[in-house]
Amino acid sequence: MLRTHKCNEIRAGHAGQRVTLAGWVDSRRDHGGLIFIDLRDRWGLTQIVFNPTENPELHKLAESLRSEFVIQVTGTVKKRPEGTRNPKLDTGDIEIAVEKLTVLNTCPATPFEIKDDADVSEEIRLKYRFLDLRRPKMLKNLTVRSGIANAAREYLVSQGFLEVETPLLTRSTPEGARDYLVPSRLNIGTFYALPQSPQLFKQMLMVSGVDRYFQLARCLRDEDLRADRQPEHTQIDIEMSFVEENDVMTVVEEMIQRIIEKVKGTKIKIPLPRMPYGEAINRFGSDKPDLRFGHELTDISVLAFQSGSDIFKKVIAVKGVVKALAVPIGSYSRKDFDELTVLATEFGGKGLAWFKVLNDGKMEGPLAKFFPGELQCKLIQQTGAKPGDAVLTVAGQNPSASVALGGLRVHLAKKHGWIPKDKLALTWVTEFPLLEYNKEEKRWDACHHPFTSPEESDLTFLENDPGRVRARAYDLVMNGTEVGGGSIRNHRMDVQSRLFQVLGIDERAAQQKFGFLLKALQFGAPPHGGIALGLDRLVTELLELESIRDVIAFPKTQKGTCLLTEAPAGVAPRQLKELGIQVVS
Ligand code: AMO
Repeated sequence: MLRTHKCNEIRAGHAGQRVTLAGWVDSRRDHGGLIFIDLRDRWGLTQIVFNPTENPELHKLAESLRSEFVIQVTGTVKKRPEGTRNPKLDTGDIEIAVEKLTVLNTCPATPFEIKDDADVSEEIRLKYRFLDLRRPKMLKNLTVRSGIANAAREYLVSQGFLEVETPLLTRSTPEGARDYLVPSRLNIGTFYALPQSPQLFKQMLMVSGVDRYFQLARCLRDEDLRADRQPEHTQIDIEMSFVEENDVMTVVEEMIQRIIEKVKGTKIKIPLPRMPYGEAINRFGSDKPDLRFGHELTDISVLAFQSGSDIFKKVIAVKGVVKALAVPIGSYSRKDFDELTVLATEFGGKGLAWFKVLNDGKMEGPLAKFFPGELQCKLIQQTGAKPGDAVLTVAGQNPSASVALGGLRVHLAKKHGWIPKDKLALTWVTEFPLLEYNKEEKRWDACHHPFTSPEESDLTFLENDPGRVRARAYDLVMNGTEVGGGSIRNHRMDVQSRLFQVLGIDERAAQQKFGFLLKALQFGAPPHGGIALGLDRLVTELLELESIRDVIAFPKTQKGTCLLTEAPAGVAPRQLKELGIQVVS
């Protein structure tokens, strides 16, 4: 090794020892002839000192050192003189009096300072990612990520799970996003699809008798990107045989408990709370409710039907709802409410109506005139609004009316800082609908994926009232983010065939798309189920970061490009020719 110690290792107890360190020049200070350098590696900083009276030649060489030069030093550990100790640094009690210096490499001026609080755009950070990752905060993110992956692996192996790799060059999988395609040179005109998840393979592994499978799997989806989405993400992917929902959830709870203990040092209480999908929509307007703060939605349909508002009455007459949200934004202007109205429509609502509660407890605003006398008191009471609050209402069909208001709930909470820091709120969301109606395509789609098992007791509605059938699916939600999702699968072909029929996937199409899995299911498939946790999202949430890109070493931009490698890029005409491909622009 080129060193005897790392840069955060040496303490006062090492005083008098001769040590060798290697790392980057973090900063250089010249003080009355002495040169002080903070030497940095992944683990921390150590102060090294060059004294001109003790070694003028070495001191001269030290003068030539610049930020980010890579050096190796040998010297003696000294306790720092009284009054010069740095309690903020692990190694703040000591310094190294340098006796030998080797410059291992030089470095030009960097495009930004290698400091956590460097003033730099994300674009430049991504372009020079190798320097960005040198910053202590980013190295910490990578360290925590690695720790989480290891904690998951350790726990799953201890529970008898087998780590199995599944192919990257495969056929389309059923997660519902667009596939990334890879042309085959040996079979011109055909394409592999990169896996959106190992879903079909892990189910086949259950047919093979693997019984307990896991994989830290790379998943690739060509979908519109958002702050919590990347074209390639990593899942802690799990599948188990002879299980029911509870068994899968218990494994995940124990694993998450260990992970959080490792990252945060706190032991969360398990089992985690469970909330049916319908309740999550009604109370929070979201299937991934953020439970770190209150401001729950209320259903004011009964009072709204008695009001003078024709709009409300019409909506309720066609089985719609009127939902309300009381929030302390009584100081908002009409313009502010107009902006919220635009947001509500972006969140899928048909509009927004509102009123304020004045100090005397009376209503003011566009809705006030529709709620005379006692109705007004009842409305204020039901929404839980206090003087100084405003009440926002959205009328429409559920879930879209609730979801629009739920979107505003989270938007306002972020804007006004209602979300407590350092709070961790985990919940399962269960009893999802199995199918959702796709109005544009006029057909039923699977909410999760088409291999999810319906609730046995709802099977009778499958053909006649598909929207009523609940899925044996569960999502794990952390602080309003879906960090995992899974289900018990259809292991019997008769149920799977009925489901395909409702989904409009005929026998031929089913065979063509998933024939290999359907065949496997016929050969003695055990009852099975599983889940996948989004590792990137999990790390982002646990580190309380804004962007998923900060926990991925080499992420893509929102436009799916890599600013470091400049991928995607054109290829040589010869390569296209070999693949039988012509680009038509
Ligand atoms: P699902 O599609 O719900 O389920 O994905 C599981 C989890 O993966 C994470 N995730 C993502 N993270 C970052 N970027 C993305 N583009 C992205 N897409 C998904 C989420 C999500 O909860 N095969 C099933 C799992 C199963 O049924 O066992 C699946 O992939 O945290």
